[in-house]
Amino acid sequence: MEKVFETKNVEQTEKLGVSLGKLLSKGDFLALTGDLGAGKTAFTRGISKGLGIDHPVTSPTFTIINEYHGPVALAHMDAYRLKTLEELENIGFDDYLEDFIIVMEWADKVKEMLPDDVLWIDFKVVGENRRQIRFTTKSPRYDRIIQELSI
Ligand SMILES: Nc1ncnc2c1ncn2[C@@H]1O[C@H](COP(=O)(O)OP(=O)(O)O)[C@@H](O)[C@H]1O
Ligand SMILES: [Mg+2]
Repeated sequence: MEKVFETKNVEQTEKLGVSLGKLLSKGDFLALTGDLGAGKTAFTRGISKGLGIDHPVTSPTFTIINEYHGPVALAHMDAYRLKTLEELENIGFDDYLEDFIIVMEWADKVKEMLPDDVLWIDFKVVGENRRQIRFTTKSPRYDRIIQELSI
């Protein structure tokens, strides 16, 4: 299933993230794709708010993984700077899969490492402040989740 949104500013993108965050639980895996500046981190900031996490989300580009602990645990990952899949393994990627909600930016770079069922979310710049955000799912659980999303 597919669902596409267009946001008109960064606040709307965050709001869409909040709406998704409210529907997630541990074990969920969100695979984010799209160019630099397309809004992946802004969206993740919304997700963390939706999860009830108080701590401000910053980009994990240099740390690869940032952990946030609130009512549920969030692992925010960024595969942009990874050169090999082993690097991701060494960071303990597998240990996050069960107990965290994982949001991974540039997930297409490490496709081979991802669980079978992930929620793909693609971000496209379509204007100075406009972003197209496309959700692609292939499981009943993520189908249900994207049906409930709203800005
Ligand atoms: N509709 C929009 N949605 C998200 N970000 C937007 C939007 N319009 C403008 N922006 C700006 O684009 C940038 C997105 O940055 P960021 O979320 O870090 O992108 P990414 O993580 O994909 O590299 C921010 O500077 C933000 O203010
Ligand atoms: Mg980012």
